[in-house]
Amino acid sequence: MQVETLILGAGAAGMMAAAHAGPGVLVVDHAKAPGEKIRISGGGRCNFTNMHCDAQAFLGGNPHFHKSALARYTQWDFLDLVGQHGIAWHEKTLGQLFCDDKATQIVAMLRAQMDKAGAALWLKTEVKGLRHADGLFHVALDREGRRESVVARNLVVATGGKSIPKMGATGLAYDIARQFDHAVTETRPALVPLTFDNARFASISGVSLPVRAFVPGASFDEALLFTHRGLSGPAILQISSYWREGEEIGLDLLPGLDLAAHLKAARSGNGRRALTTELGAVLPARLVGLLGADMDLTGNLADLSDKRIAALAETLKDWRQKPSGSEGYRTAEVTLGGVATDKVSSSSMMSQQVAGLYFIGEALDVTGWLGGYNFQWAWSSAVAAGRNI
Ligand code: FDA
Repeated sequence: MQVETLILGAGAAGMMAAAHAGPGVLVVDHAKAPGEKIRISGGGRCNFTNMHCDAQAFLGGNPHFHKSALARYTQWDFLDLVGQHGIAWHEKTLGQLFCDDKATQIVAMLRAQMDKAGAALWLKTEVKGLRHADGLFHVALDREGRRESVVARNLVVATGGKSIPKMGATGLAYDIARQFDHAVTETRPALVPLTFDNARFASISGVSLPVRAFVPGASFDEALLFTHRGLSGPAILQISSYWREGEEIGLDLLPGLDLAAHLKAARSGNGRRALTTELGAVLPARLVGLLGADMDLTGNLADLSDKRIAALAETLKDWRQKPSGSEGYRTAEVTLGGVATDKVSSSSMMSQQVAGLYFIGEALDVTGWLGGYNFQWAWSSAVAAGRNI
């Protein structure tokens, strides 16, 4: 069978590209249904973009690569599409836009766009072999046990990264990249909870609070959640993309509060109050209990010297923790790293080595922050490729 364009992967990027790539498009995926990650994303409501989407919210080997595609198909363009399909949405926090109803509305919208463009979809289809000859891609497929051979002028690789193998994630994009002499940068789980060997926080599992999480060069003001295995919550997922094994993360447990000034004022107002009671007014009481096991929190406010107040404030506003690892690809929302962007056109996503070969979405070495940025990258990079085909 001959097609104009074969798209590998019917996820966010693959479906969006299919809707923009003109006639003669076939999309194949080994999953039973398209857009499975969209379906489960955002707690079932899909955080499909972010109103504040801009280039600084993305990591990658080339800090400029993603700019062109994001500028040419923006969050407002996607929001327009969502509006055309009558999907109701709301901003949750920090510009994050979610469906009011269900994430499957986004999948249905993309399917409708594919149908409108005349794109075909084969599910339960595996890629068995790929070669390039005479300017054409020859792809051997296994479609529900039947062998199929497809010849395509364009090949769009939209098979994503390695996160959540249980949902069908594979390293196919990286294998194809290497086959065509594209480098693959180091890949690692990102937007992922961090773990500690010693069940350090098990006793306060479930406690959450707003914090500033930071490492050199990055900081995020969002919620932290203590878990049986370590630290989670948006602040930790965000900082996990910047953290490396063996390094510490810093946590300001009281962002926006001048703790030293606060304690001094409390000491003047009510010196007989216990320090733990005062801290319990600004921090979760169970966390104060855990902190008390590590540092001296005994006595009343009147017992506190200025020096002790300063030391306490410094510790709680720069609480250093050294994770032993992360939860890994099993739960990571995305893969950091991927197909190196140095030999991919930033305006079209086409390989500079092989005409007609495209890489889009999470497969590329472009990773967004938590908050709808990764889907926006999937939409923008897909449209860039689709428009070029
Ligand atoms: P995606 O992973 O979506 O699609 C790849 C497709 O390729 C899949 O359908 C897969 O089955 C197929 N495939 C893989 N290997 C194959 C092979 N060998 N043969 C055939 N097919 C193959 N982002 C965001 O912006 N907002 C959010 O709310 C969330 N929430 C979220 C929750 C959870 C639990 C996860 C895991 C991730 C998110 N994300 C997110 C991230 C977001 O899901 C992700 O960045 C995009 O889905 C990436 O889109 P792609 O199309 O590149 O890959």
